[in-house]
Amino acid sequence: MQRPSPPFFNLLELEALAAKVIAQPALDYIARGAGDEQTLRENRTAFSRAFVDQRILSGTVVQSLDTHILGSQARAPIMVSAMAAHGLVHADAESATARGAEAFGTLLGVSTVATQSLEQIAAASPGDKWFQCYLTRDSGFNRELLQRAKAAGYKAIVLTADVTVGGNREHDLRNNLRLPTPGNFLDPQGHRLPLDLSFDSSIGLASLDFVREHSGGLPLVVKGVTTAADARALLQHGVEGIQVSNHGGRQLDGTPAAFDSLQRVAAEVRGRVPLIFDSGIRRGLDVFKAIAAGADLVAVGRPILYGLALDGWQGVRAVLEQLETELRVVMQLSGCATLANIRDTPLLHGPLAGNR
Ligand code: FNR
Ligand code: LAC
Repeated sequence: MQRPSPPFFNLLELEALAAKVIAQPALDYIARGAGDEQTLRENRTAFSRAFVDQRILSGTVVQSLDTHILGSQARAPIMVSAMAAHGLVHADAESATARGAEAFGTLLGVSTVATQSLEQIAAASPGDKWFQCYLTRDSGFNRELLQRAKAAGYKAIVLTADVTVGGNREHDLRNNLRLPTPGNFLDPQGHRLPLDLSFDSSIGLASLDFVREHSGGLPLVVKGVTTAADARALLQHGVEGIQVSNHGGRQLDGTPAAFDSLQRVAAEVRGRVPLIFDSGIRRGLDVFKAIAAGADLVAVGRPILYGLALDGWQGVRAVLEQLETELRVVMQLSGCATLANIRDTPLLHGPLAGNR
């Protein structure tokens, strides 16, 4: 396995390593959360309230982790979550992340507000990519952006619905953080488009129809779901996938841990559409628990940017490999040869775990 220099042995220690190479305001933007960071902390803590029902003597070894989802393919149920501004941490920006995801063999979420344009990122690697859409106040621009994503070969649209306004991020205010203009917001000469490209605060269920109408038949995933009620509404609206997420604790502080939300949403969805899960994944064990709780695929955020900062595309690949390696150990030790076996493994919860 390739390891960035300096080496790392788990994703939790990456932040401290990356802090040596990322400027403080950028590190605050990436690492920190909204408000008192209650949700950011809970995203990690919640995993420690669930336990694995280990079986022994299963007579099997771990098999392929191949994952097929909404027409895309991954070598493991682990993808790169869409994030803004990879250029903050590496000159090759999202192109390097795309190469790393491709080298590992998984799909890449590409943000509307990426440093590079969606076409540049599409051209950087042949791997499957999903376009993460933010709707701006300019509907003509929104329409063109969706058409461009389809034309550039993206395999799905992920509409992020939890950013109707930026979260309360005090560190960014204190640092007076100014992100560079996203590549998608520039004209061919590199000038900012003369449009109102602030995010549309009034997105609603009708926005799903708009996205669908202009994205040429691509499957639609809605990201930012935390409640069973919203999942129910989305199913009624015919979405193809649901991404349970609290944006890594960056948006509404005080929402429950994403892992707790996952369990409630999964009980509502009951396998009718694929569930993607993000916010807090740092260990293969977390991936295992998310799948046991009903996720089909997990998405990883911050550690990917740390890997990118430390070692470019190889750092991205190393982060993904670390998670897969850990997941395989957990599977082997718990008697799960396949992802389907994980889904059949009940999780044990909290102090009652011993009573099951
Ligand atoms: C994000 N995230 C995000 N999500 C999205 O839909 N569009 C975006 O442009 C961004 N931008 C962004 C920037 C940075 C620096 C971070 C850290 C995150 C949220 C991301 O997709 C994901 O939901 C969380 O990062 C997952 O949590 P973890 O893995 O970082 O704990
Ligand atoms: C963020 C926005 C861009 O989390 O989604 O910073």
